[in-house]
Amino acid sequence: MIYKCRACGETIQPFMSFGHQPPAASFYIPGNQVPEHFFELQPAFCPTCQLFQIVEQPPEAVMFHEAYPYFTGTSRAMIAHFEGLFQSLRSQWLDGTADPFVVEIGSNDGTLLSNFMNAGIRHLGIEPSASVATAARARGCRVHEGFFGMETADKVRAEHGAADIIVGANVIAHIPAINQIGAGVASLLKPTGVFVFEVVYLGDVIRNVAFDQIYDEHIFTYSAGAVRTVFGRHGLDLIDVVHLPAIHGGSMRYTLAPRGMRPVSTAVEACIAAEATQGLSETTTYERFRANCETIRSDMRRLLDELKAKGARIAGYGATGKSATLLNYCAVTVDDLEFIQDSTPIKQGKLTPGTHIPIRSPAYFKDNMPDYALLLAWNHRAEIEEKEAEFRARGGKWILYVPCVGVV
Ligand code: SAH
Ligand code: TMP
Ligand code: ZN
Repeated sequence: MIYKCRACGETIQPFMSFGHQPPAASFYIPGNQVPEHFFELQPAFCPTCQLFQIVEQPPEAVMFHEAYPYFTGTSRAMIAHFEGLFQSLRSQWLDGTADPFVVEIGSNDGTLLSNFMNAGIRHLGIEPSASVATAARARGCRVHEGFFGMETADKVRAEHGAADIIVGANVIAHIPAINQIGAGVASLLKPTGVFVFEVVYLGDVIRNVAFDQIYDEHIFTYSAGAVRTVFGRHGLDLIDVVHLPAIHGGSMRYTLAPRGMRPVSTAVEACIAAEATQGLSETTTYERFRANCETIRSDMRRLLDELKAKGARIAGYGATGKSATLLNYCAVTVDDLEFIQDSTPIKQGKLTPGTHIPIRSPAYFKDNMPDYALLLAWNHRAEIEEKEAEFRARGGKWILYVPCVGVV
């Protein structure tokens, strides 16, 4: 099979396969007769753009729709983080701007956008998934229901004018037509405007062997080098990078501006130099990553089998998007995990995609505490350990797998 880089069109080759995987958010309704969609999850690295990407994925409408189940507001830490992002965007970029206009791509349930709304700032969310768009509207946010691309950018500009800030968190990795984002942002932004996005960082994924960050929705895993190249082609300068080690297991905040309009922070060059030192453009880095993934898979299987042989009860914690890759790649089933607790109401009562493990509420977890809990939502570890002090007090242990399999 010949695959083309989604940014530059050059031929690329996957360096490994995580096997057949379902869309990570397609939680299965028990008794459903409709066969699940599967695709082969294969990451590749484009040497021309330095863009890390998966070569196959389900259609966008299969991933983002009226039943999209991820609500940002399920994490207290993320609510606080986005309030911080709002504060810094306002003080850094909106001070002294008359009647500013802010566009958020992938505004989800309005967790970030509502901060702009409450401050009386003109705002618009672009959000294709009705489940979350409705939740944002219910709290008073202004939302355009649809996919961001050139067409939407033109429409928004015609109706509302150009934007002072275009912001997107954990969404610029999700849009396959990457050049549509670049062109759309470049056309919707004021010459004095900025484009700020946050996303899981390739450097952290490789360093921590956090392979479960790779799933259908995460088509791209960005590095600063890739961001500079890919968006540079659309006349956008990468002017700043801020590493966010505690966000989603390691993210980067990228700030871009129309070419030549803003000084470039020294942090950009430093970050790109660190990426070279880490070997993010080298084939051997990805060969090592593949070997590390295989080690985690065999260690995970061995640990689960040993614990089961001892008669231990094991459950999962957090039916995250990431968990689909981990569970399907390591062939984890109901024979391994009795259930997975998740605080999102629309996930409860359903089964995990592909592996069909039942998802239960926090109350169920409390009443049926296992001996071991596989922490699938490891990116929210601090918040969860604090919340689940009782599990620990009753002798419960956490199973971790990033950066390696272990029990704590
Ligand atoms: N920004 C939130 C939500 C991230 S989940 C946060 O950081 O927590 C990704 C969101 O992007 C989903 O709500 C999904 O529906 C939305 N999305 C997917 N493709 C999109 C596109 N082309 N344009 C705008 N939003 C998109
Ligand atoms: P995420 O890793 O994509 O942010 O998803 C986190 C999932 O974990 C989401 O489905 C909600 C769930 N969750 C809990 O069940 N309890 C918690 O305390 C937190 C923070 C998340
Ligand atoms: Zn490329």
